[in-house]
Amino acid sequence: MMKSCNIVALVGLVLLFMIHLANAAENKGLGASFIFGDSLVDSGNNNYLPSLSKANIVPNGIDFKASGGKPTGRYTNGRTIGDIVGEELGQPNYALPYLAPNTTGKSILYGVNYASGGAGILNSTGRIFVNRVGMDIQVDFFNQTRKQIDKVLGPSKAKEYIMKRSIFSITIGSNDFLNNYLLPVLSIGARISESPDAFIDDLISHFRAQLTRLYQLDARKFVIGNVGPLGCIPYQKTINQLNPDECVELPNKLALQYNGRLKDLLAELNDNLPGSTFVYANVYDLVKELITNYDKYGFTTASKACCGNGGQYAGIVPCGPTSSLCSDRSMHVFWDPYHPSEAANLLLAKKLIDGDTRFISPMNLRQLRDH
Ligand SMILES: *[C@@H]1O[C@H](CO)[C@@H](O)[C@H](O)[C@H]1NC(C)=O
Ligand SMILES: *[C@@H]1O[C@H](CO)[C@@H](O)[C@H](O)[C@H]1NC(C)=O
Ligand SMILES: *[C@@H]1O[C@H](CO)[C@@H](O)[C@H](O)[C@H]1NC(C)=O
Repeated sequence: MMKSCNIVALVGLVLLFMIHLANAAENKGLGASFIFGDSLVDSGNNNYLPSLSKANIVPNGIDFKASGGKPTGRYTNGRTIGDIVGEELGQPNYALPYLAPNTTGKSILYGVNYASGGAGILNSTGRIFVNRVGMDIQVDFFNQTRKQIDKVLGPSKAKEYIMKRSIFSITIGSNDFLNNYLLPVLSIGARISESPDAFIDDLISHFRAQLTRLYQLDARKFVIGNVGPLGCIPYQKTINQLNPDECVELPNKLALQYNGRLKDLLAELNDNLPGSTFVYANVYDLVKELITNYDKYGFTTASKACCGNGGQYAGIVPCGPTSSLCSDRSMHVFWDPYHPSEAANLLLAKKLIDGDTRFISPMNLRQLRDH
């Protein structure tokens, strides 16, 4: 009697183990990344727009292996954080840019990238670049993709795939300050009539609506990057003629104020939208840590752009064929006047994937994938 009980238990265990293996095989890795945002994660959408903000010129992409070092529209020398996260979590291919003509059919199952250089939460942000795809339109585009996924997988599998095996990452907000609120010419009216509080209120209420629309389209696993230390980028340091270890106060103050509100917004959405997980990526503190302790991470400078021109930090003219180029790209925190190098992106991505709650909360991205 005792013996047969044991055998039943053993068979049960073996069965459980086999079911577990089968599940693991089916859910191995991340299915899709749907990437929204600005030039920090644009993988080529602006190549298809008559925009003044473009990165499809050399030497951008010089270290991007998948293109053999040719520019792709990424605003860095290699991979963006979005690329690295997808790769590390087991997504078989990079998310393709939504506006690329061959982003159709089964290829969309690896995810789609909607990010656009110059884009912001507000529609009016980035006007200076003439064309860019703002966040409202990026969500409209996902609504189109959503219908295509129904066609490829059938409606019930599609819903499951989007809810369980897809991560929605959103990196936006910097341009709402840099290329809107803080821009002297275009927004002087808005800045006089709108206090920082009122402007940030406006950003948060628009962002709430945009995230809620994604939820309505079955997005459940979200990661939202906060706004980085804008006052520490080479562009700001150059135009304000700062010392290497100084940062401009106002942009950082605005970023911190917005980030506090963003954190509250995500907690509110976690409570109010059943089944959702909104993860807060503390990019501000991560980048600040890299900038402050750059030598500890193997960099030789956190103030000078590797590729750019103008002033003490090569921080005025964006990276292009006539820019000066540094000799060791992996030793600069900043690739150009605005954007981190691939070496910095790798360190940032690793902290988001496996880091602790100082930098990514309430869970890291590996946990979010398996959640
Ligand atoms: C089109 O798709 C192929 C493979 O799916 C890819 O290698 C190529 O880079 C894509 N072209 C563009 C312009 O995105
Ligand atoms: C944003 O701008 C686009 C045109 O670029 C327009 O179609 C859309 O209605 C605007 N959205 C809002 C919320 O104003
Ligand atoms: C998606 O598009 C359809 C029209 O095709 C529209 O009725 C619906 O409101 C849109 N959903 C969202 C969340 O924007």
